[in-house]
Amino acid sequence: MIMSIQSPTLACPAELAIIIPTYQEAESVAQVAERVSAALAGIAWELIFVDDDSPDGTAERVRALAQQDPRIRVIQRIGRRGLASACIEGMLATSAPYLAVMDADLQHDEQLLPEMLQLIRTEGLDLVIGSRYLAGGDLGDWDQRRRGMSRLATRIAQVLLQAELTDPMSGFFMIRAEVVHRTVRRLSGVGFKILLDLFSAADSPLRFRELPYRFRARQYGQSKLDYAVLWEFLLMLIHKLIGPWVPVRFIAFSLIGGLGVLVHLGVLWSLLRLLGPGSFALGQGLAALLAMTSNFLLNNLLTYRDLRLKGRDLVRGWLSFVLVCSLGALANVGIANYLFQETRSGWLVSALAGILVGAVWNYAVTAVYTWRRPVDPL
Ligand code: GDD
Ligand code: MN
Repeated sequence: MIMSIQSPTLACPAELAIIIPTYQEAESVAQVAERVSAALAGIAWELIFVDDDSPDGTAERVRALAQQDPRIRVIQRIGRRGLASACIEGMLATSAPYLAVMDADLQHDEQLLPEMLQLIRTEGLDLVIGSRYLAGGDLGDWDQRRRGMSRLATRIAQVLLQAELTDPMSGFFMIRAEVVHRTVRRLSGVGFKILLDLFSAADSPLRFRELPYRFRARQYGQSKLDYAVLWEFLLMLIHKLIGPWVPVRFIAFSLIGGLGVLVHLGVLWSLLRLLGPGSFALGQGLAALLAMTSNFLLNNLLTYRDLRLKGRDLVRGWLSFVLVCSLGALANVGIANYLFQETRSGWLVSALAGILVGAVWNYAVTAVYTWRRPVDPL
């Protein structure tokens, strides 16, 4: 006889899971949980916070809440950062058929959740999105600069997606879990723009509706959306344009490498003007060192934002970066020269092949030795 294990306290399986990514939101989590709970009376829900090991003890606070209410829990990620990847992991950690993503800072209107659920259930939609731009929605108290930035990104995204979304940057939406399961392997998982990511990864056009809401002011803590997030947005667009087989980090590494060439030429030009043509060898060496250093610092800030080196590690990282890239330069010249001399390839083809080999070498080896990146597809 098969006995089913049942406990009287076990809640019925959740129909709706609310995923809340958090970084430094200790002050808000209790209030957001309370509000979600009040808004969802009569619905079987669960609340999953995905916290990137916030130093302010956000995860601890959520664990304390979970002791009061078993529908609440936390996924605490160590050594990781990223809003989109946190949402993805939260969405995969539940069996609920409907998933909502919402900010922890009370800026999103939880009162919208029951209506979203009702719509997605009855209209057979894939997604319901909270929109700040639809008639009736509002950006709240954002300043001019932030409004301008958001509008610009919205325009670009609309052109790229060719979907009639009024707010493709929205971080507030509800989605059918099966859509996530179908597309998850094609998501880039980078940056803030999870919705954009979902739309461009979908195999067939997603059926969606938008609901207007008023974006509330942040009560505690600060926004984590800074210029590095805009950079991530740019990377995601390039990633979508050239195809998923080129890793996002390699795109970032190459863009910064291109910038390094400009730094190099700028330094060399200045030194030649200052010291005269006799200083070419010295100038070339110094320019290379400075270009490598600026590349290292930029990659540390942007490409490896989530694994950023600090203090003594920064010095060790810089040394290893310069060493690896110097070997990369040797390989670059060696291969280009071989192709040019031995196989009689044209100068441009030879040079580009050398650059490509050097870039891939630098990227792959510094990932392991400089940033000690664990094996991770994202
Ligand atoms: N786990 C995790 N890891 N959570 C993060 C991270 C991270 O690296 N960075 C931010 N978060 C969490 C925050 O704690 C918050 O709950 C939510 O993600 C949104 O971050 P905010 O810092 O509040 O973003 P915002 O209010 O400036 O940006 C809002 O508008 C954007 C559109 O312009 C958000 O709604 C975004 O989702 C939205 O794209
Ligand atoms: Mn916010």
